[in-house]
Amino acid sequence: MTGMSRRTLLLGGLGLGAAALTGCTSAPAAGPVPSASGPMPTLPPATPRPGQRIVEQVLTAKPVTLDLGGPTVPTWAYGDTAPGPLVRATAGDFLRIRLDNQLPADTTIHWHGIRLHNKADGVPGMTQDPVPAGGSFTYEFTAPDPGTYFFHPHVGVQLDRGLYAPLIVDDPNEPGAYDAEWVVVLDDWVDGTGRTPDDVLAKLIADGGPAPSGGMGGMGGMGGMDHGGHGGGNAPQPWGDAGDVTYPYFLINGRVPTAPATFEAKPGQRVRIRLINAASDTIFTVALGGHRLTVTHGDGFPVEPREVDALYLGMGERYDALVTLDDGVFPLVARPFGKTEGGQGLALVTTGSGQAPGPDVSPAELAGRILLATDLRPHESVRLPSRSPDATAHMSLEGSMSPYRWGINGAPFGQNQPLTVREGQRLRLNVMNMTMMTHPLHLHGHTFALPTGLRKDTVLLAPMQSMALELDADNVGDWMVHCHNIYHAEAGMMIGLLYRG
Ligand code: C2O
Ligand code: CU
Repeated sequence: MTGMSRRTLLLGGLGLGAAALTGCTSAPAAGPVPSASGPMPTLPPATPRPGQRIVEQVLTAKPVTLDLGGPTVPTWAYGDTAPGPLVRATAGDFLRIRLDNQLPADTTIHWHGIRLHNKADGVPGMTQDPVPAGGSFTYEFTAPDPGTYFFHPHVGVQLDRGLYAPLIVDDPNEPGAYDAEWVVVLDDWVDGTGRTPDDVLAKLIADGGPAPSGGMGGMGGMGGMDHGGHGGGNAPQPWGDAGDVTYPYFLINGRVPTAPATFEAKPGQRVRIRLINAASDTIFTVALGGHRLTVTHGDGFPVEPREVDALYLGMGERYDALVTLDDGVFPLVARPFGKTEGGQGLALVTTGSGQAPGPDVSPAELAGRILLATDLRPHESVRLPSRSPDATAHMSLEGSMSPYRWGINGAPFGQNQPLTVREGQRLRLNVMNMTMMTHPLHLHGHTFALPTGLRKDTVLLAPMQSMALELDADNVGDWMVHCHNIYHAEAGMMIGLLYRG
């Protein structure tokens, strides 16, 4: 296997070894997965209950020129900034949000992580028609669970433009034992720097060479298809080869590290930091120099608090952390995992006087104890009641750089067979990452439980890692499960999860 590249597909339409590994055939939807035929159970329209508080907002997606703190870039954004305007509600509120599409392209909005009404999920071709240039669409849904979320388009690789913004759902029962709250949005930036995300995807596909026709059949190649450039073969653990794209900038709240965003507070104050990774192809390691962070929530849901030096955030993941601030000026660093170009993301925390750290500052915490989601335990209040699964579905994550094609269960999205579930079932998803890359797997409309019980909607799967995820099928609709590397998703690493009677 010496010639095998880091991203060789081990399971395809043809993998003998793969069948041995999985103990089942590699046919799509192998195992006791019901057929995807038949209609979805009826879904009542989303309407506010009498007395339900309504949050209304208008978001305008449009071309803009942004100043990232030096570099100016033509891009697309919600309004005049990236991140776009905060949407904020209290758990149980009804949101009515109108998208005005002033882009020269179709778009939609997906409300990432929210257990919402299926018709508001923003997936074109599945839950709505795309919103055409010049058109509008009103998203209506109840936000049932408090937490840190965000939103972005679900069309092409638009997420890798400036089209993202935080969505915070407050907990009416939250004691709020902190003096301040900061929303910190991480991003990897390429748009308007001579390339658009569409150019990046086209180049990945072109560099990958011709795609053989039909399913993932041609992807099973065990031959070399080395992925030149960055992220090299000796990338540090645990994520192996973590990204496909070389970015010129990494941003925190829309700023490059030479002109960082600054958070001000007083020494001794306790701050809740809401971290959101809105990047398309970058896992970050995040640390606040001179401080340890107490992680309190993962993907919006409360955890048993855990003190760490730093934490990993995959694309689409969110963590909330509490910190008691020291006196001085401190770097909040988002270090891109496995990437050697483009520097890092930086913001400053100022509670007193002191020399501002430079853009390349490397806090000692980055070499300390770094949190993995699998180290966390859920808060008892959100643990799924123990129950044995009524159904099991298998998901095999597959793909290669050459050709640049990614898929689930033997084929790219559109050619793979959707998973199905019946309302009321406890579903076990046995996920296997059959590639040598890390993939952040995201499920729409639900929060699953990891084997530890931790509740999340996005989880990082390291190369060749398997994980059993469980979920209660309590939100009727047609949903997506996909890799939140937007280039992988767009190249096929998605699958449907459909409720059927
Ligand atoms: Cu944020 Cu379908 O994803
Ligand atoms: Cu992926």
